[in-house]
Amino acid sequence: MNISQIKQKWYEMESSIVKKVTTLSLLKMKEEKKKIVMITAYDYPTGLLADKAGVDVVLVGDSLGMVVLGYENTLPVTMDEMLTFCKAVSRGVKRAFIVADMPFMSYQVSKEEAIRNAGRLIKEGGADGVKLEGGIEIKDTVEAIVQAGIPVMGHIGFTPQSVHKLGGYKAQGRSCDEALKIIRDAQALVDAGVFSIVLEFMMSEVAELITRKVKVPTIGIGAGQYCDGQVLVIHDALGLYDRVTPRFVKQYVKLSEIILDALQKYSNEVRSGIFPEDKHTFHMSEEEYKKLLEALGDDR
Ligand code: KIV
Repeated sequence: MNISQIKQKWYEMESSIVKKVTTLSLLKMKEEKKKIVMITAYDYPTGLLADKAGVDVVLVGDSLGMVVLGYENTLPVTMDEMLTFCKAVSRGVKRAFIVADMPFMSYQVSKEEAIRNAGRLIKEGGADGVKLEGGIEIKDTVEAIVQAGIPVMGHIGFTPQSVHKLGGYKAQGRSCDEALKIIRDAQALVDAGVFSIVLEFMMSEVAELITRKVKVPTIGIGAGQYCDGQVLVIHDALGLYDRVTPRFVKQYVKLSEIILDALQKYSNEVRSGIFPEDKHTFHMSEEEYKKLLEALGDDR
């Protein structure tokens, strides 16, 4: 190998090394005003595709309760369910930072239980960080998890686990008082040590103020264009969820129609005998087949 071949080999090796996204690289993106892309994934193939597409943060969201498991809301999701999906996603993701949602009641009972459950999502699930819903009221819990060495992402504004307390799916921060509460929640989370905050379904003015005031990146969903990044539920973005999607969702493709069409074609082909063809079929050698028929006394 000559020098230029060695240089070429070195270049190829270097560019194939995956540079993992970290809490520090996300902070740097905010400082450099580079938008952060986050999307949910719930299994190996969606994790793999999100990573291949260059998404920065993959969220194993408890929205899986609705879009994968068919629950009415996120409240029934358990730690065991989160762990199963998180393990599958982490097998597919090499570069993106993986955040796992802490399910309802996995962090509210005590700080000790919250640390234990956050630890399981990291150790067993393969996540890089965890996400908790709430503001000032969970400040001490967030601080305890961060002190245990686990990166925490906050989640304020509309928080789906509190859907009943909030009185339904409603945009937050309409009045000055409501907006001030959300801004104080954001500051409390930053003081507790979060590395980033999701701002969900809130007035764009409030999200813009928070994004300007806090040093950590904000990731918006239904919070306007001024956040440091955006997140969508993958089933919404790909048109795979059959229920009503909120106005803030953008559907990039309607996969449900493509899948339905393919499944109808498959059904028709099986019923009419078109599938499988010879190219999908495995045959015994003529000699072995003849022997088999003889052994069975089958003269056809
Ligand atoms: O569970 C989820 O998908 C989420 C996003 C809506 C941010 O928390």
